[in-house]
Amino acid sequence: MKKSLLVLLTLFYGVSNAQNPMPVPPLLTGPVFNLQVQNGTRVFYPGFSTNTMGMNGDYLGPTLKMTKGDFVTLNVSNTLTDSTTIHWHGMHVPAKADGGPHIVIPPGTTWSPSFEVMDYASTHWYHPHLHMLTADHVTYGVAGFVIVSDSAEAALNLPRTYGVDDFPIALQTRAFDSNKQFIVESALDSVFVINGVMNPYLDLPANVVRLRLLNGATERAFNVGFSNNQNFSMIGSDGGLLSVPVTMNRILISPGERAEILVDLSALQGQTIFLMNYGSGIPQGVYGALLPQAAGTNIIPNYTLNTINGTDRNMLQINVAAPLPNGVTSTPQSLVTVIPHSPAAAAKTRTFTFMPQVMGPTGSLLGPFVINMMPFDMMMINDTVILNDIEIWELTNQSRISHPFHIHDVHFFILDINGVPPPAHLAGRKDVVLVPPQMGTVRFIAHFTNYADSVTPYMYHCHMLTHEDDGMMGQFLVIDTTSVTGLEEVQFTDVFSVSPNPVQNGIVYLNWKNEVQGNLIVELIELSGKVVHVNEISVNSEKRTSFHVEGIETGMYFLRIRNHAGYNQTIKLIVSKT
Ligand code: C2O
Ligand code: CU
Ligand code: CU
Repeated sequence: MKKSLLVLLTLFYGVSNAQNPMPVPPLLTGPVFNLQVQNGTRVFYPGFSTNTMGMNGDYLGPTLKMTKGDFVTLNVSNTLTDSTTIHWHGMHVPAKADGGPHIVIPPGTTWSPSFEVMDYASTHWYHPHLHMLTADHVTYGVAGFVIVSDSAEAALNLPRTYGVDDFPIALQTRAFDSNKQFIVESALDSVFVINGVMNPYLDLPANVVRLRLLNGATERAFNVGFSNNQNFSMIGSDGGLLSVPVTMNRILISPGERAEILVDLSALQGQTIFLMNYGSGIPQGVYGALLPQAAGTNIIPNYTLNTINGTDRNMLQINVAAPLPNGVTSTPQSLVTVIPHSPAAAAKTRTFTFMPQVMGPTGSLLGPFVINMMPFDMMMINDTVILNDIEIWELTNQSRISHPFHIHDVHFFILDINGVPPPAHLAGRKDVVLVPPQMGTVRFIAHFTNYADSVTPYMYHCHMLTHEDDGMMGQFLVIDTTSVTGLEEVQFTDVFSVSPNPVQNGIVYLNWKNEVQGNLIVELIELSGKVVHVNEISVNSEKRTSFHVEGIETGMYFLRIRNHAGYNQTIKLIVSKT
């Protein structure tokens, strides 16, 4: 009797009663950051050593403090036995510095990107992005914060003393096997791990305090609020500060998203409250709700066994201590000027549809999910954007589960969600947006400035990392068409066309209309203007010929077709597979 009671108590309270101080990641300031991806172990459960990976430590990594306008260098050493990559999620950096799946850091090597910090004051994060292994490396623990400051933020009376009244808080859930090792890609992620520990507590001053919330989970959305239901003010989203603080008492944060909130604890000295995940308030169709999918028969395996889905749980105990001598005691009325791009300025609208790769009888929930019917292919450039263009991207979710869509390189402004303009807290700069299920739509607008690269792509993908790894990702080039020498003398006619474009499998077909006579000179020209390939082709009655572009680096080219009869046409050609 006593023993079973003890077992029961252990089940309910055993581990969950052991309180751990919430670690605050060490703060590194630049301009040079030395980072080391490493293997480690951590005791999450007494008596068990869990294998982990971290940055400069056993799990998670330091916070990188940067200022807008800094020129920074990040030396990332990979001491693992596997390759990895490190992506600066949310930062506007050159494609070669972005750390996507093409920028592999082999074991035993150091990757050292440098760039100017161009972001507004904001909370970003870094994490691995290796093709098909992102969920794995993130689950083991490689991730950390980047905090950017700027003069507009510095001019506001905001809490900003790191670890005193300004805290980064990484929200994650993990699944453990019976040996207390991580299970990757499982819907059994029922343990909250906050800044790398379970059952954390944090002492906060009885002031206005700033929490930088990050959803660093692989799949789960969190619906964050306080156990006393008090209001807080959201001051920043993914890409920086909002124009005015938005008062709320719940914030739904999907994987990859950040929310900076101010919470006023001045009336609570000596009290204890909890930062909660109000799972009961997560809408159906979002991972974390009681049922993840809108009505249907297919279900994510094990999902219904996960007891934190759809329920309200403590994530972090907050003990409110004495106020700081010079602590912040109020929330500003307004923040910064935020001017969204105008839809009238958009050069084009691109459409993206999400669906299961295999449509089950009732619409499969089991994935893998794909974008525009194409599973991710490292060698396929899906989209090419012209540098300095403003574009509208229209996302339609034909599946029964919500997907948090993320784009690299730029921040965007949401134009509408299911046709309705975004709520105030989603009206600022974003880089992740949760797209509702069942023909849900989101339109956003973005300006692709500063960085062109005709070879290295940026990524867009679902930030449920299992979906990303399974192929719900595409890649785009940002190209600078003005840098092509001699473009002004090119006459654009539509006598010639090429297919497929992007070129796949190294073969491209050139088609022309009846009128063409005489041999054709076909030149493949790099964006720099350098001619990399010249072919002379005789016209034939099929009005079509093929040629090979194997061995040519992937990227954007111009194909110039001329003949002695005076035809002269240049076509943009994307070589995506050689
Ligand atoms: Cu947070 Cu493509 O990543
Ligand atoms: Cu990213
Ligand atoms: Cu997804």
